Amino acid sequence: MTAGDSPARPAGRERTRSFAQRIVAWQRAHGRNELPWQNTRDAYRIWLSEIMLQQTQVTTVLPYYERFLTRFPDVRALAAASEDDVLAHWAGLGYYSRARNLHRAAQQVVARHGGHFPADVEQLNALPGVGRSTAAAIAAFAHDVIAPILDGNVKRVLARHAAIAGFPGLATVERRLWATATARLPERRGDMVAYTQGLMDLGSAVCVKRAPRCDTCPVRTDCRALAEGLTDQLPTPRPRKVLPEREQRYLLLRHGDDVLLVKRPAPGIWGGLWCLPELATDDTAINICAHFGATRVTAGPTLAPIHHCFTHFRLTLNIVAMQTTRCDRHRSPPGALWLALADAPRAALPKPVATLLAALN
Ligand code: ADE
Repeated sequence: MTAGDSPARPAGRERTRSFAQRIVAWQRAHGRNELPWQNTRDAYRIWLSEIMLQQTQVTTVLPYYERFLTRFPDVRALAAASEDDVLAHWAGLGYYSRARNLHRAAQQVVARHGGHFPADVEQLNALPGVGRSTAAAIAAFAHDVIAPILDGNVKRVLARHAAIAGFPGLATVERRLWATATARLPERRGDMVAYTQGLMDLGSAVCVKRAPRCDTCPVRTDCRALAEGLTDQLPTPRPRKVLPEREQRYLLLRHGDDVLLVKRPAPGIWGGLWCLPELATDDTAINICAHFGATRVTAGPTLAPIHHCFTHFRLTLNIVAMQTTRCDRHRSPPGALWLALADAPRAALPKPVATLLAALN
């Protein structure tokens, strides 16, 4: 038996209440109960929130969630939309593969499930962009299915409560965490909404990364990390790795109030988004301007490099600014777009490009 299967014995009154019962009672009294994706059984709204909340905080998600639902009120509306339209409503949230998968998943729900999200965790898990934890969260929130979740916050709660050492990204450690999550599930379906939300709420408000608020934690009496003074060491951090640095030149070509953009190929960084054209090492800006039909060009102002961090590397964007007074737009190759700067806030742009164009506007 591993530490994860045998939590420390709770003391006093808590001895009679399971881990799950304490989480449920705490969530109902102290958790979040008014978020826009709560108090609904609409799997579409729940699924959308869970995808947006992957890697993104609640406060960031809120305005996107409302705008997205206004434009795509149900799964059929989303499935019928163009990818560009979906990406435009995602622009700024980052991790754009989520938006492409969302669109594909909506099309699959319509084509294979008659427009109804399945209640089954395995079938949800088979949809693009829906991992095991997200599938369990959707099934619990929409249908009270008893299945464990294990997102980043929940990994932290369980790694501490059961004192599971080792970086949770390692398969062996993750397996122990899943076993721990499964062993702690409630027995009653009627507790699954509060339990699932309670684990998320505990992870985001109490069992936080730095300086956890253990004095207010409903499961502190049998938390092994707290008992052993390990809360600041668990979960074990990712082994440190220096991120590789990359540099890339981008052409900022302006014609009047418009700026030239090209659609990024997918897969790849910013796949499907509209970006400034890249300049290869041996490209001159003038040649690339001519390639897009701009013949009378002059150099624009010098702009500071922009730094952007991806999960696997850091990118420095060096911007080569040019302007043109004569441009034959019919000579622009396919996949090119002249965008009015005033329209930039509504376009599907990578974050650093959106920031740059907002500053120019
Ligand atoms: N993070 C992931 N899912 C969430 C939810 N349902 N509520 C709040 N934060 C979350």
